[in-house]
Order: sequence, then C-alpha cells, then structure tokens
Amino acid sequence: MNRELYNSKRRFTRKAAALMAALLFAVAAVLYGTFNYSIVSSATSVQDTDVTNKASFSTDVIYQIVTDRFYDGDASNNPTGAVFDTGDLTKYHGGDWQGIIDKIEDGYLTGLGVTALWISSPVQNITVIDGSNDNASYHGYWGKDYFKTNAAFGSLSDFTELVSVAHANGIKIVIDFVPNHTSTGVYSEDGALYRNGSLISTYSNDTQGIFNHEKEWSDFSTIENGIYHSIYGLSDLNQQNSTVDSYMKDAINLWLDLGIDGIRVDAVKHMSFGWQKNWLSSIYSKSGIFTFGEWYYGGTTNDKDFSNFANNSGMSLLDFRFANALRNALGSKTGSMLDISKVVTDTSTDYKEVNDQVTFMDSHDMSRFMTLSGSNARAVENAYVLLLTSRGVPNIYYGTEQYLTGAEDPYNRGDMTSFNTSSTAYQVISRIAPLRKSNPALAYGSTQERWTNSDVFIYERQFGNSVVLTAVNRSSTTGYDITGLYTNLPAGTYGDVMQGLLGGNSITVAGNKSVETFNLAPGESAVWQYTSTSAAAPAIGNVDPNMGKAGNVVTITGEGFGALAGSVKFGTAAAVVNSWSDTIIKVTVPNVTAGNYNISVTTSAGLLSTPYDGFEVLTGDQVSVRFKVNNAATSWGTGVYLVGSCYELGNWDPSKAVGPIYNATTTIGVYPTWFMDVNVPAGKTIEYKFIKKDSSGNVTWESGSNHSVTTPASGTATVTVNWQ
Ligand code: NOJ
Ligand code: NOJ
Ligand code: CA
Ligand code: CA
Repeated sequence: MNRELYNSKRRFTRKAAALMAALLFAVAAVLYGTFNYSIVSSATSVQDTDVTNKASFSTDVIYQIVTDRFYDGDASNNPTGAVFDTGDLTKYHGGDWQGIIDKIEDGYLTGLGVTALWISSPVQNITVIDGSNDNASYHGYWGKDYFKTNAAFGSLSDFTELVSVAHANGIKIVIDFVPNHTSTGVYSEDGALYRNGSLISTYSNDTQGIFNHEKEWSDFSTIENGIYHSIYGLSDLNQQNSTVDSYMKDAINLWLDLGIDGIRVDAVKHMSFGWQKNWLSSIYSKSGIFTFGEWYYGGTTNDKDFSNFANNSGMSLLDFRFANALRNALGSKTGSMLDISKVVTDTSTDYKEVNDQVTFMDSHDMSRFMTLSGSNARAVENAYVLLLTSRGVPNIYYGTEQYLTGAEDPYNRGDMTSFNTSSTAYQVISRIAPLRKSNPALAYGSTQERWTNSDVFIYERQFGNSVVLTAVNRSSTTGYDITGLYTNLPAGTYGDVMQGLLGGNSITVAGNKSVETFNLAPGESAVWQYTSTSAAAPAIGNVDPNMGKAGNVVTITGEGFGALAGSVKFGTAAAVVNSWSDTIIKVTVPNVTAGNYNISVTTSAGLLSTPYDGFEVLTGDQVSVRFKVNNAATSWGTGVYLVGSCYELGNWDPSKAVGPIYNATTTIGVYPTWFMDVNVPAGKTIEYKFIKKDSSGNVTWESGSNHSVTTPASGTATVTVNWQ
C-alpha cells in the first residue's frame, strides 16, 4: 500500500507531495506501531535546520551534481563546436543551472529529501578542447575567470535564480571552488587567468610570478612536492603572490554575495596550509559558511596529515576514510563490516569534530557504487542506509539513486538516465533523509557499536535522549538471529523508518533495554528511532565554524538551550548573543587572547551545558607570510621549525612551533635553505626564530637576538634570514 501511495506522488504538485509524505509518515507510524509520533516532515521549519543556517550542515543531506551531466534545462546555452558532444563523456553535454532549477521545481530533489546541492565550480573555464588530453572543461576544474560564470551552465542571473529557487525550497547551494590551479599550462589557453575579462597572466609568459614553475609535475612523494608542483600539468597558482591572494579572496566574496551556502574546496592537499588558513579566515570574517575540502586519501587507517588538516585547518574534509571503508565492505567486498565499525570508532577520536566531516560512498573521482558492487542493487541501497544514519554530513552522488553505472572518470560522470521517484534507492533516501532534521541523534549523536560480525553492523546514534538504531546485513545469502542486542531506545515497539522497504521489521525493546531476538534476513536493513520531545539538559551539538577571530559570528547548534536567552562563554569570557532559540544560538567571538577555548552554554534557567572543546581564536585578521632561512644545516632526522611571539607561531613554545618546514622546492628553497608559508596576524610586528628539533625532540635555538617582521595589513610577504 505504501509503495503505491509513494508512486502516486508524481501526479501531485510539489507541495501536495510534501503534505502527502508527511501524512504517510504519520500513517506509517501508526500502522507500524512506532511509539514516537514526532517524526517531523521537512515541511516543518525549525530554525537550526533551515537554509538561513549556512554555518552548520549537520542536519543536511547534500546531493552532488556534475552540472553538465544532470539536466539540460536550456539548450540555448549549449556550447558549439568540438567541445560539445553528447555521445562523448569527455565533452560538454548541455546540463545547466536551469536544469537544476527544473528538477527542484518538479519535486525530484525535494522529494528525495536532500537539503543541499554541491554543484560543479560555477566559474568561467577554458572554452576550447584541452590539447594535452582532448577533453573539454565540462567538469569545471579548468578555471579561467573566477569573476565570470561558465556560460555553458548559465548567466549570473541564472545563478542567482538557482540560489533563490533552491532557498525557497529549503535547499542550500554549495559550490565547488578551485584556488589551486587554472587549466593545463602550455596547451590550449596556456593556463590563462583573467579577472573579470582582463588577462592577468598565462602560464608560459608569467612575468609576475602568478604561477609556480617547478619543472616537473608533482610525483606526490611528499606533501611539499604536491603543494608547489603542478598536479597533472595543471597551471599551479602561486597563492603566495599578492595578486593571486587578493584574487581568491575577492572572487569567493563575489560568490558569497550571490548567496551561496557552502564551499567545497578542491585539492586542499596541494595548497599551503598557511595560505589556506589565511583565506578561510578572510571568508569567516565575512560569513561563517560551511566549508569542506578535498584531501584525496585512498586508505581507511589514520593518516596524520589528513587528520591534522581536518582538525586544524578550520575547514571540514570529505571523509575518505569512511567512504573507503563503506566501499570495501559493501561494494568490492574487499573489507567487512568490522572495518567500517573500526573506522567509526577510530575517527571518533582521530577527528576533532567527526560530525562535521562530509561522508560519501561514491563520487566523480571513483567508480560508481553500482559498478563497484558488480551491479548489486541491494548493496547500493544498504550503503545509503549506512551513509544516511552514520556520523558526518552525508553527500549523495547524483544518479547512484537511479543505479547509474560507470568505472573511473569519465565513466562515473554519465548523464542522468531517468528521474524515477519510485526506484527503491530513491525511496530509501527519501524515507531516511528527513530524520537528519527531525532526530538530533543523526545530526549530533555519538556512535555506539551494538552488534557486529563481518556481514552485520548494528550501531546506535544518540544525542541527549534521542536515539537512532540501525541494522544492516550485507550478505545476500545468510540471515542472522540477532540475540543479546541492547539499545538505549526506551521500552516499546518500533517500526522500521523505511517501512520495511529493505525487509526491516518492528523490534520490541524490554524495560532492561534488551531487544527481543529477531532475524536479520539476507540483505536486510532497518532503522528504528526515538526522538525525544524534551531535552534532558542543554547540549551543544556543534559549533560552526570552529575557528575565527574576535568579532566573527559563530553558530552553536544543539538542543535544550531554552526559548529565552541565557549566556555563552568562551573559556571564562562572555560572548555577545546575537540570537537565541532552543536549538540554535548565534554569538560573537569575544575579544580574548588567541588560543583554544571551550564554549559553554548556560540557559536562562541556569542549566550549564557540557563544554564544546577547542574553538580556535586567531590573533585578528590573517595574512600569509613566507618565512625562509638560509644555511640551516642539520644532521639526518633533524627538522627545522619556526617559533615566535604570536599564537600562530606558538608563542615561543617549541612544542607548538610551526613545522617541520620545507626544504626541497627548487624555485623557492632547497636544503640548507628551509621555508614555509604561514598564516600570521596582519599588520603586526612579530619576533621569531628558527629552531632545530632532532628525532628525540631535543631543541637547538638560533643564537643572537630575535628576528623581527612587521606583517602587511593585507596581501602577502616573504622574509629571508640566515640561520644565526
Ligand atoms: C579533484 C577533483 O575532484 C577532480 O575531479 C579534479 O580533476 C582534480 N581535483 C583537479 O581539479
Ligand atoms: C627563548 C630562546 O632561548 C631565545 O633564543 C629566544 O630569543 C627567546 N626565547 C625569545 O624570547
Ligand atoms: Ca544547456
Ligand atoms: Ca599547488
């Protein structure tokens, strides 16, 4: 019965469909004996979950669109000539912003339950075929003028219409953004960078140092090598050049002013940490927008550079560890459910803010899940169940809900073949996605493993008294009797949130928290949930961004804050409260000394939250300075570090010194010269020294008096000294 009703949705208008969905949830709740009736449909607008909250995406589900491949809503903007060929996956196919608008307005995306769209980079790209590999720039990664739109996607007014239609439908817009590079050097348009129509430089005739010019391409052997070399022949921008620095700050401001809600930053592994933090700090001073980076990683174990970026850069990352574990366990079957469980457990401490990382199961840079799993539709559906109920902000790659296939790039970037709203995968997503908004356990909860073997993963998310229990059996042949399962769901009977779509049944929880034994059939999965209607205590779910200078606005989400304003403290300093509701508070970062602070909320009734750990207050506006030291000879195993008189340089504490710094980039500095691009406070006089640390941590200071630099108020600078 339910399935038929869902199918009939297509005949209704979008609003009627939303109403219908809400009604169905209520009916289903009664039919399936769910004790909790507080399932909130996405039509209910809670302040912390709507599009005005650009800072936190914890309650959102992102849908990633390769704009050119989604839907052609306006044939008049299709490129002509060799770059356009709908029969060739390396050429433009005609998809555009009008097409996305159409698919919002016809209910495909709202019905799916997604609340954010990550779209291809919107900026003007090269308009000719790349002579080095015969591809067109349909993917958006070959930027040319970041102050103009990609005409194949639409005009500026098409873009603003997309933003406003999306917002009116409860959907945020995230743009891909590429500060690392322009197009391929030498070939085609020779990497040319323009600013609103005026040429700044080509790669080959670069008189101003706009690009990095290491002779070879990166061999990716070290982080340093990947930052200053070209990746795959793309013209590598020199962000340490003041023109490039201000270009990227002004360009992103333009898109912020057009109303975007989030930024996906391309290739963050390939730009200096210091420049990126200075750029982010500039962004956050204007808007505390959700920002997540792509640090490509092929493993599931802890990688210290990956975690360091996730924890200290000020932006989130795409959670490759989780994605790889999910793909191994359910897709290629090269791993098991135990590996997912391990990644979830390990990342709860490896990542400072696990709920802010963006999770996914496939993307434009990996084979589609359907192909990976050998066309196992149930594997795709079960992967969605795991993705949508696990910690992190879930990101769904367009088309996988229609079981699109395709191996690596460009085969994983095919056209949408249908917009079928009754596909099982579509239905799985549409039934679970609303829970991200209605039950805070999914947005903010911790994860507890409850019952696991190599085929089965049963885990529980909990925040305050709200609980979501998920069970997935990946085996297509073996069912399991689930005995000895415990849960924090209150005693009672719970129906599957997916209404049995993947075979899930009701479970009964006894007073001692034990779940009556049940059988989890081959391929079966189910989600059971309890949404608490009254918070036991004020609880902070998230703080976004988690870095910024005094005066910036920060968003605190969670529950139990109360309707009346109470107070918020950074350490012991009170913050000015800009707005307050039971689930979302906006505050101004107080004027405190730079450093890491705990944030705590006290309700008007005097209840104190547990502290949120580690908000990083920077020393005012930031600039990126290249610090260079010559003649710093060391023995093998010893590194050179930078330490100085401000928080960003460790406040003279060798254990907080920046480094080890680099020494192997021909065009910047090679041993015994060492250098690093570091974010430091703007317009300040800073004293500093270089130090050497050997492998056992012994520190050798430079002798003599401290070096001193007065940093620029804006732009970048380089200082070079001799080791003394
Ligand atoms: C990572 C992107 O996701 C990929 O598709 C792109 O080709 C490279 N970065 C270069 O921009
Ligand atoms: C301690 C170091 O020994 C010294 O070399 C350095 O100049 C000072 N810290 C800075 O105050
Ligand atoms: Ca078009
Ligand atoms: Ca680079």
